[in-house]
Amino acid sequence: MTLHTEKGGISRSARRFLWKLSYLQRKCIFSVLSVGRFPTHIAFIMDGNRRYGKQRNLKGGAGHKAGYLALMLMVIYCCELGIKYITAYAFSIDNFKRGPEEVQYIMDLMLEKIELELSKEDSLFSRYGVRVHFSGNMELLSDPIKDAAKRLMVATANNSNILLTVCLAYTSMNEILHAIQETYQEKLAQIQLQESISEGRISMCNPEQGDHVLKLAEIEKHMYMAIAPDPDIIIRTSGENRLSNFLLWQSANSCLISFSQLWPGISCWHLVWAVLNFQRNHYYLEKKKKKQI
Ligand SMILES: *[C@@H]1O[C@H](CO)[C@@H](O)[C@H](O)[C@H]1NC(C)=O
Repeated sequence: MTLHTEKGGISRSARRFLWKLSYLQRKCIFSVLSVGRFPTHIAFIMDGNRRYGKQRNLKGGAGHKAGYLALMLMVIYCCELGIKYITAYAFSIDNFKRGPEEVQYIMDLMLEKIELELSKEDSLFSRYGVRVHFSGNMELLSDPIKDAAKRLMVATANNSNILLTVCLAYTSMNEILHAIQETYQEKLAQIQLQESISEGRISMCNPEQGDHVLKLAEIEKHMYMAIAPDPDIIIRTSGENRLSNFLLWQSANSCLISFSQLWPGISCWHLVWAVLNFQRNHYYLEKKKKKQI
């Protein structure tokens, strides 16, 4: 299993055996969970990579590398569990304000991992049927990252087990603003077209019927996250309870769960706990959903 970084002492076959053992254990627990109502979409705010690195005296940005491994493991657990959508808050627009060295490290790491996935025949994404999508204001990224991200989206486009959305150069406010601007432009173009068709005649566009008004469904169509249903669960690590500008529009009825564990330390037990918690609150959340609008 390529995910295990520590190679010292333990042989390859022993590692494979241990992975198999933990797989069987997970399979057993997950089958118990699947009796209850199941979440479709789980989103993660991956907080605590830097602190993890500092606590362990890891050099440079190694905490972020550990965070990446934790995300890949989480993708595997979610696949095994039968979750259809997962979303990870990888890099916020606000993160560009961090030290240039750290930003560079994260971007280099991302590029390296994407290229690695693209170069492998038997990549984790093809093995588990993971389709990858990047959400966010891609214009803010450098050309090599933008290009690699696009290539990964194309390469995994036919995978259909699970959709992993990576929020990159993302904030909710930026997403909402962008969606409203696009909807407005679209509406404006429609109105101009209708006016040019009906020139000299009575306008076909009737403001009283609300043709000029932006509608909720139209705005939602232009959201970066339109690719997935709203999340059932949002998990944040490292003991914080804030959403930090993540999925503000989509989280009206999400079950919010915070763990004190730093992101690289998250395990399949946290996932199990989160799903149980969701199942306990499910009927309440469903009722809320029905009352909406
Ligand atoms: C995905 O499927 C389409 C249609 O079957 C095909 O044209 C395309 O090459 C496939 N893409 C990949 C990356 O396999």
